[in-house]
Amino acid sequence: MAGDAGDSTGGGKRALPIGAVIVRLAAIGAVLLGAVAAFAGVGGFLSPGRLTQDRMMAGFGEANGSHPGFRRNHAKGVCVTGWFDSSGQAAPLSKAAVFRPGRVKVVGRFALAGGMPFQVDAPATVRSMALRFLPPGGEEWRTGMNNIPVFAVNSAKGFYEQLLAGSPDPATGKPDPARMQEFLSRHPETVRALAIIGKRPVSSGFANSTFNGLDAFRFIGADGASVPVRWSTVPLQPFVAESAAQAAAGDKNYLFDALIAEIRRHPLQWRLVVTIGAPGDPTDDATLPWPEGRKQIDAGTVTIDQVSGEDGGDCTAVNYDPMVLPSGIAPSDDPLLSARSAAYARSFTLRPARRGRSRPAR
Ligand code: HEM
Repeated sequence: MAGDAGDSTGGGKRALPIGAVIVRLAAIGAVLLGAVAAFAGVGGFLSPGRLTQDRMMAGFGEANGSHPGFRRNHAKGVCVTGWFDSSGQAAPLSKAAVFRPGRVKVVGRFALAGGMPFQVDAPATVRSMALRFLPPGGEEWRTGMNNIPVFAVNSAKGFYEQLLAGSPDPATGKPDPARMQEFLSRHPETVRALAIIGKRPVSSGFANSTFNGLDAFRFIGADGASVPVRWSTVPLQPFVAESAAQAAAGDKNYLFDALIAEIRRHPLQWRLVVTIGAPGDPTDDATLPWPEGRKQIDAGTVTIDQVSGEDGGDCTAVNYDPMVLPSGIAPSDDPLLSARSAAYARSFTLRPARRGRSRPAR
């Protein structure tokens, strides 16, 4: 269970030489420290209303109530395992070991956005797929993706303000529409992004959802050349539109029940599609889509064949920090990346509290 989690590397089960372990831990520590520093920078530590990790966590508490032992966001989820068969097609652009032709172990997690671990499954709720690629030699890669085409905000401050604007009003127990309107009036980028998100086709389940990394990154080749990229996992399971009857049927876990049943029947597969940005494409703003027609690479296929609950599952003690990157994948100038890294780290360290029955949000 989450209470046993003490290792932000996910408690790797493979034996590594001690030197490699130290290098790996030092690298992860450096990433986390860098992220915390960057987060301080984005939030404006010198300003009076500075956005610290604690304030961000308090924002989640205000929005969702207290659910000890669970992730502060994407709290309802299941663990999965499987593998990635690299096609080798991304290798000329990225020297990362994961892209050499061959098979790599994967530990993943499917979840619903939101900090309430017992929320009722619903069509509009953002679905996520998080993956941890484990190539031999310890050069792992972690990524978290959502089934939306763009993100709703482009800064840590925007994320925090949106969280508060959607929080229940203590007087009514419901979000106050005027508060959200006020937030939107100051964030035209969110208004534009929500219009794009609202038009997306929603599929019938996790298995036939496309998941998008949303933030831009950079691939670094063996020759040192660097290109901007975004990535997605595109299902081989055919698209079927979500029907109103699914949610209305009254099963509050219908999305997760279907996912678990499908994985138990047969493995599920997604193609890992990498989109290459052209000069001028925005890399620092996840609310902005890249133009259609950009070059895409089929980097390989993710296969998921095992599923388990989060209590003791392989993903439970994993922090899907988007800055845990192998040599060959680098962060872009998107400020969300360092903000995410810092928030996930604090969410991770708060998780070990024993899981109890969760208290409903106000
Ligand atoms: C400033 C912006 C953001 C903040 C503060 C934030 C915060 C969080 C937090 C606190 C968690 C739980 C972490 C844990 O305990 O392991 C989480 C999970 C997650 N977030 Fe974000 N997030 C942000 C932006 C994004 C963006 C842009 C994406 C784009 C794909 C994203 C995708 C995910 C996913 C997939 C998970 C679930 C990971 C898992 O299954 O463990 N988030 N987020």
